[in-house]
Amino acid sequence: MTKILAIESSCDETAAAVVIDGREVKSNVISTQIPVHTLYGGVVPEIASRKHIERINRVIEEALIQADMTLDDMDVIAVTYGPGLVGPLLVGVAEAKAIAYAKKKPLVGVHHIEGHICANYIEYPDLAPPFLCLVVSGGHTHLVRVVDYGKYEILGRTVDDAAGEAFDKVARSIGLGYPGGPKVEEAAKTGDPYAIDLPRAKVGDSEYDFSFSGLKSAVLNYINREQMAGRQVNPNDLAASFQRAVVDVLVDHGMRSVEEYKADRFAIAGGVASNGSIRSAIAAACKARGVEFFCPAPILCTDNAAMIGAAAYYEYMAGRRDGWDLNAVPNLKLGER
Ligand code: KG4
Ligand code: ZN
Repeated sequence: MTKILAIESSCDETAAAVVIDGREVKSNVISTQIPVHTLYGGVVPEIASRKHIERINRVIEEALIQADMTLDDMDVIAVTYGPGLVGPLLVGVAEAKAIAYAKKKPLVGVHHIEGHICANYIEYPDLAPPFLCLVVSGGHTHLVRVVDYGKYEILGRTVDDAAGEAFDKVARSIGLGYPGGPKVEEAAKTGDPYAIDLPRAKVGDSEYDFSFSGLKSAVLNYINREQMAGRQVNPNDLAASFQRAVVDVLVDHGMRSVEEYKADRFAIAGGVASNGSIRSAIAAACKARGVEFFCPAPILCTDNAAMIGAAAYYEYMAGRRDGWDLNAVPNLKLGER
């Protein structure tokens, strides 16, 4: 039995979890900074770092209390070391190194996106590679072939904004505020998704690449045009139409990859994967093709440390150990060491 204390602080959630053998979550504590950053309309990296410093010890303590364990019980100390905001990442990395050093425990650095993908292992104890996974978060949009544990082939990625970034920017332009994703989803519930025609951009070297900046500009242009003409913009219709455009692109790319790779399993991950209409559209598209669909519970989609514990387990089993020189790598690529 391998007991892992996992720490996550790459953006605006300070999180710690105790995970056993990569699948069994004993505790999953998340201290969100959303109310702090809402004042500024987005994450302020300097403030995020300071909040992590203030909260991280209490969050870890709480994770151990809820798991009814102590630091001495842990077999591994795991931490997100990239990608993310450098200041916030450094807080978690320094903390994990200090604990591992003081308690003489192995240290394992984890890739944040790998963590998002591995949230599926927690939700579905029998899920094993190979499968396809669409990772849609605030900083990343990747269509990935999970070839084996810890082995990823990236089929496509965004060439500009990430899906979550598009939600956040569009929410700001409609006047819905931060964080954009949940606000757009809420507004869209009472809007008409067919009210406004928006583009579905296709771009890039790979047919699986994504581009969301054209869609974001189209929303801005629509708002300007309507305002110039003295017409009132219906925020709910705009949110619903934007969300439909995102859903269409995600379903289209995802299902083309399913067909090309003859996949029988398709998973989603990342903060945007907590969106109900994205989940149900991809679930329906998978069902129509006889493909098994996997999506972690919303709390495991947005940033958390349990997913980092799951990813760390497979890295640890593959022999990964980090030294006291482990550093934050803000632009760490998936599959890089
Ligand atoms: O994975 P995550 O928590 O952090 C990153 O790794 O980036 O993702 C955060 C992103 C934000 O852009 C947020 O607006 C988006 O996920 N998000 C959503 C929803 N909940 C969070 N987007 C669409 N619908 C949601 N319900
Ligand atoms: Zn994330």
